[in-house]
Amino acid sequence: MSELNLILLGPPGAGKGTQASRLTEDFGLPYIGTGDLLREHKRQGTDLGRQAKEHMDNGGLVPDDLVIAMILEKIDEEGDDGFLLDGFPRTLPQADALAEELEKRDRRLTAALLIDAPDETVVQRLSGRRQCSAGHLYHVDFDPPKHEGVCDQDGKPLMQRKDDEPETVKKRLATYHQATEPLKDYYDERSLLRRFDGTRDVTEVHDHIRATLATLRLEERL
Ligand code: AP5
Ligand code: MG
Repeated sequence: MSELNLILLGPPGAGKGTQASRLTEDFGLPYIGTGDLLREHKRQGTDLGRQAKEHMDNGGLVPDDLVIAMILEKIDEEGDDGFLLDGFPRTLPQADALAEELEKRDRRLTAALLIDAPDETVVQRLSGRRQCSAGHLYHVDFDPPKHEGVCDQDGKPLMQRKDDEPETVKKRLATYHQATEPLKDYYDERSLLRRFDGTRDVTEVHDHIRATLATLRLEERL
């Protein structure tokens, strides 16, 4: 079967993580989420976690070389038959590094899935986001858990991410517009960009992406 090598693009709070958990189930793909991996390094207090902390807490980006090494290692460990990357690449050098490394392995990207949403939507989403330590996602208004403050899936307490404070969200948005948004053109020029309206509800966005991926897969087989 043809492999799906996918990346998710989009501003903070557009719903990348929310859709990723659905898509990895639909297509049996390993989920490689840069933010989750970095947060785990922070929790465990590794060298990488210590280096990443100040950048993440300020709404900036972790240096390219650190993130590239971390992700390539993961792709080699888990992504032999396809992968879904969430939050990588986020800069042009990261995109070039990914393309080069895939080419060395005689592989290529299937698509870059852009989930887009305006800044106002993102701010509203992130202020109400809650998640458990395993990364299961909720929203106090749009997707509340059955029992307030407790994860439906594993009963763990729900927390707010430190970088979801309003001032940090503003900085993350500025970082996105400056460093990551140019990737839209980068992938469009390579005919890999697929756009999705992240302001629609979770199920609609999911249906739309799933249909697009089913079509892409059919085309690959023809
Ligand atoms: P990361 O964890 O990747 O954060 P992000 O890109 O800012 O994205 P978020 O996780 O905040 O948003 P999301 O799009 O996943 O939205 P979600 O599904 O949760 O990165 C964190 C940090 O790590 C970065 O700032 C950086 O410092 C560092 N980093 C990461 N990757 C890096 C890289 N490659 N290079 C350098 N540094 C890197 O949804 C948000 C909320 O909205 C939830 O509450 C959800 O329930 C709700 N929601 C989702 N969809 C909908 C919908 N359709 N309708 C209503 N509500 C919705
Ligand atoms: Mg996320």
